[in-house]
Amino acid sequence: MGQDTFRVPMSMHADSRTKLLQRLQAKNVDPGCVVMLQGGASRMKYDTDREFLFEQESFFQYLFGVKEPGFYGAIQVGTGKTILFMPRLPEEWGVWMGRIQPPGHFQDTYEVDEVLFTDEIVSTLAAMKPASLLLLLGKNSDSGAMSIPAQFPGIENFKTNFDILSPELVECRVHKSDAEAQLLRWINEIASNAHVQVMRKMAPGLMEYQMEAEFLHSIYERGGCRFTAYTCICGCGPNSATLHYGHQGAPNDRQLTDGNMFLNDSGAQYHGYASDITCSYPVNGKFTAPQKDIYEAVLDANRAVQKAMKPGIPWPDMHRLAVRTIAERLKEIGIIRGSMDELLAMHIPALFMPHGLGHFMGLDVHDPGGYPEGVSRIDEPGIRSLRAGRVLETGMVITVEPGIYFIDAILDPALANRSISHLLVPEKLKHFRRFGGIRIEDDVLVTSNGAENLTRVPRTVAEIEAVMNGS
Ligand code: GLY
Ligand code: MN
Repeated sequence: MGQDTFRVPMSMHADSRTKLLQRLQAKNVDPGCVVMLQGGASRMKYDTDREFLFEQESFFQYLFGVKEPGFYGAIQVGTGKTILFMPRLPEEWGVWMGRIQPPGHFQDTYEVDEVLFTDEIVSTLAAMKPASLLLLLGKNSDSGAMSIPAQFPGIENFKTNFDILSPELVECRVHKSDAEAQLLRWINEIASNAHVQVMRKMAPGLMEYQMEAEFLHSIYERGGCRFTAYTCICGCGPNSATLHYGHQGAPNDRQLTDGNMFLNDSGAQYHGYASDITCSYPVNGKFTAPQKDIYEAVLDANRAVQKAMKPGIPWPDMHRLAVRTIAERLKEIGIIRGSMDELLAMHIPALFMPHGLGHFMGLDVHDPGGYPEGVSRIDEPGIRSLRAGRVLETGMVITVEPGIYFIDAILDPALANRSISHLLVPEKLKHFRRFGGIRIEDDVLVTSNGAENLTRVPRTVAEIEAVMNGS
């Protein structure tokens, strides 16, 4: 984006293509096959002519880094020859949208072998005589939605394969290259700084959306980040217990109240890549004793996990470590009681942390690849929401986001459930029913011998209080 923003080298995408081809070649895929992807299309608001601001489809972004809609991309498996196909734009585009750039412009910008028009796809492919077109068809394990394989008039003239590409391309995205890690590090720095700006702005009487506005201003003004990686979650008091608060039905529209906690889960997006950071702190800048107790319980869980993370560690074990840490601390605080064995066997921590410990992150905030073939979800409370069930490997980027929440929809039935109510302490719990929730979320890169925390925000109680009081 210019100025001091990160300059993304196009070699990052060339390296992604090489990585994919190496994986396909290792699987003995016929070198005459051609990988064929369709980029995202521009979309209008319902029946109007108002165009949404375009965001590229993530697999296409990964391989080509193209920011315009309506492109296709082809890569020959044996040679690596890469061709982009661009839309042939009508003349009036030049009046309303700007100069119509020729293919050579996109060839220079995206550093590919050739750029042609989409109406040349069929003749170009026919000349390549592909053994098969490898098309993208796979299920996203978070949403359950299917990717959309490339489609174009005349595709029926070619042999197609829908099985080979998706698992290999997902696997490429799971392990970040050095260039991707550097980009993610920079986006995290921009988002971390924005979180600090919000902390400095925070004051009783302001509105939740004004905190969101401060975050948006900071990431765009300092980092050229035109998009966030997801809708900002800026919840004060009880709203902080709503895991995905901030949607249009609950648009961060409560006033910030002296004495309440505030939860800010916001991440910047740049060149399609995400960050995902959560900070929790008191609106007035000074923790009360109960706020500090809950906060430090969550921080303990976050830090215990990051200390234990390294290649070879199963991610579900890290979820269990976080949950056990939280249970121990909730017991010390006096909110739950009973033996640790019974508390864990009855899944009591899941009443307070109903979500998973963390998820892969990269081009998407919830990046794919958490459950490849052969890895299955553990169907137990809490951990069934974990978005990745696999063993940690070098180059993975995963969020560490334990939390403790006081959610009526969970606690009311639990208190009425005789098989577990004896493990709760109602007279203590009642003081926390309007507390909301605390989440502490970092983005972490798994390194060859441990983990690197990409997120740099005030985390200890002392650090937060110092920053909120002007340090
Ligand atoms: N930051 C929102 C989420 O991870 O779901
Ligand atoms: Mn997250």
